[in-house]
This record gives sequence, structure tokens and C-alpha cells, in this order.
Amino acid sequence: MAAQSTPDGARPRAYLTRALPEQARQVVTAACDLAEWDSESQPVPRAELLRAVGDADGVLTLLTDRVDEEFLDAAPRCRVVANMAVGYDNVDVDALTRRGVLLTNTPDVLTETTADLVWALMLAAARRIVEGTDVIRAGQWGAWSPSFLTGYDVHGATLGLVGAGRIGSAVARRAQGFGMTLRYHNRSRSPALEAETGAQYQPFEQLLRESDFVVCLVPLTGQTRGLFGAAEFALMKPTAVFVNAARGPVVREGDLVEALRRGRPWAAGLDVFEREPIGADHPLAALPNATIVPHLGSATVRTRTAMATLAARNLVAALTGGNPPNPVNRPA
Ligand code: DGY
Repeated sequence: MAAQSTPDGARPRAYLTRALPEQARQVVTAACDLAEWDSESQPVPRAELLRAVGDADGVLTLLTDRVDEEFLDAAPRCRVVANMAVGYDNVDVDALTRRGVLLTNTPDVLTETTADLVWALMLAAARRIVEGTDVIRAGQWGAWSPSFLTGYDVHGATLGLVGAGRIGSAVARRAQGFGMTLRYHNRSRSPALEAETGAQYQPFEQLLRESDFVVCLVPLTGQTRGLFGAAEFALMKPTAVFVNAARGPVVREGDLVEALRRGRPWAAGLDVFEREPIGADHPLAALPNATIVPHLGSATVRTRTAMATLAARNLVAALTGGNPPNPVNRPA
């Protein structure tokens, strides 16, 4: 792809807010002058971010970066924000659109990997895998006994998906191998999912009442913030397992802690939290019936490399007059 010059005749300037895999960096350096925050593990501090985007034509961001009016004020030349995530609740999309800035994301490449993680949480929570490991590590494994660490079967159970987009559909396909009965609730019905997996659409509350596993995979929006609270947990079966691999604020976390303390739902598997990262002193960390992992949905080497590379391709395409593969908005 030929590099398109900026109005001042130079190559476009790109800023990466994190150290990325070499493969992704090379996509950017082939077409752009590159500046980057050089830590892989630590987000760029806000003040440094606002300084660094000052002369950037495009910015590759992570879900740890807030992209809002303040960011845009600090980045007057910015024409594209390429977010390395499928979710983009860290971005004020309307503000970008108003200012003519394109937003892109990284769907598809993480679908199957994230569905695997959902499955890991379902199995681990229902079969008490982490509790079992903790027992051994603490030297507390006594005699085999009939009811020791007994959990609930995944096979043959009823799975209720709240959110049936790409990842929800990939979870549903896996459920067929476990002989599960499939229910889903979504903004709109999905005839394709129903035909492929036999999943039946249900109203939200009915799905909560009747499912053995309730799996949340909705994007975080104004409508889904706080979707799961005390009332919703009270509707679930006392044996239900609740899994959230969407975004933390979709759940009222204080309500979930209380609900898990009372044992309804019976257990939870959580990849995401209201405010990340959480520490060892977080109330969920003290609950044996909460299986908690630090936002690992897409965390395989191959998928994270694919996400970074796709974000880089989106960025470069937007800066060089090409067609970015994954536009989110339609800026003026
Ligand atoms: C996303 O892409 O939105 C995930 O949460 C991180 O992989």
C-alpha cells in the first residue's frame, strides 16, 4: 500500500499506546513514522498520552486508554483511532464521529479464543477446579469422600446466553458437544443461530429463571450498564452458574457479591470487573464460589498477535487512503 503524505508532505505519524508484537509494529513502520509507549505491561500515563498524541495522525489504542473529548483536544491532527479490542466502551464514539475521526476495532480474530475462555469459566466454576487446586496447595486434601467438592454437571444442562453475537454463537456451537439445551436472549432474534444450534429465543427473565448456566456476552452500552443486579440474581436457580466475559459494568458488582454470599447464583465465573484491575482485597477474591481471572478472554499468543496486527492494518489503511477492514463509525 503506498504511503499517503500528510498535508505537510511527510509520512503519516502514528502513535502506539503500548509496546506491541513486532509483526504489528512492522505493519505500521512500513507506512508511517512511529512513536510508541515502550512498556508492554504498563499503560501510558494519561499526561504522557495527551502529550504524545499532539502530533499524531493516527493512534493505536488499548481498552485501558480513555479516548474522549480531552484526548481529541490533545490530538488535533488525529484522523483515526484503531482500538485493539472488539469492545470500544473506552471510546466516546459520538465525539470521534462529530470531529471526523474514524474508529476501528478488532472483531472476528478473537471470537473462538474468547468462547474457549467462557467454556473454561463454566467448567471451572461448576466443577470447583480452583477450589480443588487450592485444597491441594494448602495441604488439606483428606480422604476421598462422597460429597467432597461436588459441583454441577455441564453436560446435559441448560445454557442461557445473554447476548448472541459472534462470541455467543461460538459458545453455543461448543454447547452442542456437551448435549446442552440452548436458550438465548438478544436485542434481535438470530434465525441463523437457531437453525445452526437449535437455540430457542427467550425473554430475559424467563431465561434467568430456567437456565443452569447464564452467560453474559453483551457489549457495554447505556442500555446494558447494570443489566444484572440483585433482582436478576434472585431470579436465577439456586444451583445456577453465572458467567460474565463481556464487560464488568454490565453487572452491579456489589449485588453480585451479596448474591454469591447468599448462594444464589450458586457460583460465578468472571473475566471482567467493574474497575480493573482488582486486587487481592476485592470482596470477590474472598469468595470460594467465584472463579475470577484477569480479563483473559482473548489471551492466547496467536490471538493477541492477530488483534495487534489487525489494529495496525486498520490504522495504516485509514492513514494511507485504503479501506480499513473494521470501521466502527462513519465520520463526516
Ligand atoms: C475485547 O476485545 O473487547 C476484549 O475484552 C479484550 O480482548
